[in-house]
Amino acid sequence: MAAITIDSTVIFEKNYTALDDPSIRFIINEGGSRSSKTYSLCQMIIVYCIQHPNKVVSVVRKTFPALRATVMRDFFEIMKSMEIYDVQSHNKSEHIYTFPNGSIVEFLAWMMSRRFVVARGTSVGVMKPMSYGLKISNS
Ligand SMILES: Nc1ncnc2c1ncn2[C@@H]1O[C@H](COP(=O)(O)OP(=O)(O)OP(=O)(O)O)[C@@H](O)[C@H]1O
Ligand SMILES: [Mg+2]
Repeated sequence: MAAITIDSTVIFEKNYTALDDPSIRFIINEGGSRSSKTYSLCQMIIVYCIQHPNKVVSVVRKTFPALRATVMRDFFEIMKSMEIYDVQSHNKSEHIYTFPNGSIVEFLAWMMSRRFVVARGTSVGVMKPMSYGLKISNS
């Protein structure tokens, strides 16, 4: 596979290293506005999915308007800037993106979702815990 180059910050590097460490179960990102938390975590999810087949990544906020205006916009812009976005792989009604290796990213609004209350795996990262979460499971 061709190498993919991204412009990343130290936030990406620290999260990516922590995600790879089996002794770390939760990752919490705390920091100032516009300090690259959302952007770096989107990059991390994309790289994680490319490198790991058949994973399920759930990106969770309280409501869909909150998801759409922030993390979903960044996620798909980054995918496009990396030139790996494929509209056929984007189920826009279910808010699921499927990578060629079978890994998926699903965007869930927990106020609307019964799926979120069904624990499917181990949460490895949480951001803005009251309204925002990231769950990567091994199913
Ligand atoms: N690695 C990067 N490469 C290019 N642009 C970036 C990068 N990281 C951040 N940015 C730019 O900085 C902006 C702010 O970053 P981001 O939205 O990730 O901040 P944040 O820490 O999530 O802020 P908030 O706490 O307000 O949600 C992004 O919209 C993007 O334009
Ligand atoms: Mg943010």
